[in-house]
Amino acid sequence: MDKKIKIALVFGTRPEAIKMCPLVKRLEQNPKFDVVTLVTAQHRNMLDSVLELFDVTPKYDLDLMKPNQNLWNLSSEILLKTKEVFEKERPDLILVHGDTTSASMSALSAFYSRIKIAHVEAGLRTFDKNYPFPEEINRVIVDSVSDLMFCPTDKAVENLNVSGIKTGIHKTGNTVIDALFYTLKNNKDKANIDFLNLNPDLKTILLTSHRRENFGEPLKNICSAAVELVKKYNDIEIVYPVHPNPNVQNTVLPMLKGIERVKLIEPLDYAPFCALMKKSHIILTDSGGVQEEAPSLGVPVLVLRDETERPEAIEFGTVKLVGAHKDKIIQNVSLLLDNKEEYDKMSKSANPYGDGKACSYIEKIILDYFGIA
Ligand code: UD1
Ligand code: UDP
Repeated sequence: MDKKIKIALVFGTRPEAIKMCPLVKRLEQNPKFDVVTLVTAQHRNMLDSVLELFDVTPKYDLDLMKPNQNLWNLSSEILLKTKEVFEKERPDLILVHGDTTSASMSALSAFYSRIKIAHVEAGLRTFDKNYPFPEEINRVIVDSVSDLMFCPTDKAVENLNVSGIKTGIHKTGNTVIDALFYTLKNNKDKANIDFLNLNPDLKTILLTSHRRENFGEPLKNICSAAVELVKKYNDIEIVYPVHPNPNVQNTVLPMLKGIERVKLIEPLDYAPFCALMKKSHIILTDSGGVQEEAPSLGVPVLVLRDETERPEAIEFGTVKLVGAHKDKIIQNVSLLLDNKEEYDKMSKSANPYGDGKACSYIEKIILDYFGIA
């Protein structure tokens, strides 16, 4: 094949950008590919900060984010606007990532245009359509129209097999580990967190929460647990980069603003966020990406959900599910703060989600798929 393989990488939110930009860079370096980057901008400022960090300039930017957007409008806009780009560019393959509205609607749009589809971070499942909502169904949609599926782990491969998908499945590891290693190595200057003025005498507990299932009462429970924890322990400081989604802000700010040793901050750029994860004593989160990154940094993670599609680190022992239940959160944080043996058991550093070379494995699989050595 003399012609270059035209690949369109399509993404729109912060976590997708973190996990796709290393792949954009990798494929752009290979003259066998003609790389087109298309961002939906489902997220705006959080997406832009990642594009800037990785120095990626999209060829197409649909600029779709609206304040407090809803699934119906966003989905239909993505379907309609990606169609225009796909029909103009006619890529040989589009790559989408994970389980967002950008991923599911771009994949469906490419399927309607009869363009081949590859799914990065394929095969994650809880097998419960409501958890996480709507991401579980987004993953099912993307995998059901994909020609190539890049699975982070054996479990993800098995999930696709039991779903009846038999071909196009490859285990590659998760590109988030490529992103993490790249950022820790190459962005030391940008990883400075002095501006946070963290108290060096206090243990940092990092908190993030943004999942739709946690909106309302569950998020209130998480905030109440934070208040109780700083009351109970005078040697901890909780640092919470608050997601800009109004459903998060409107609960968190009234409950936690002004509470001593609870530091509410804007979302951090990825490099300082990695530095903050590394410095943290414990991480409390409902984020998917953070569950995958933290095992590399040796920081125990308590997941603010009742289930996870990322069970590998739980089996490995560095991550534990505590749900969004106030008492359970307090009890498990207390266990880690009070019991060194329990803490040491959870702070091993090794990562079941990848070896940092997922992008190169994916590159090779795509070349093989198109019959190029
Ligand atoms: C989305 C994804 C979720 C992913 C999360 C990562 C879906 C259905 N949800 O949820 O799977 O875990 O991103 O963070 O695809 N906003 C800003 N600036 C930004 C980003 C968001 O102001 O840069 C605000 C806007 O008001 C926006 C709202 O947050 O309307 C919600 O954004 P949206 O992407 O719809 O939902 P997330 O909760 O971010
Ligand atoms: N992250 C970041 N800044 C923050 C919070 C998170 O850069 O203030 C990174 C984090 O390291 C991870 C990704 O964003 O790579 C996770 O995004 P998020 O939690 O929004 O989404 P999810 O992974 O749950 O889909």
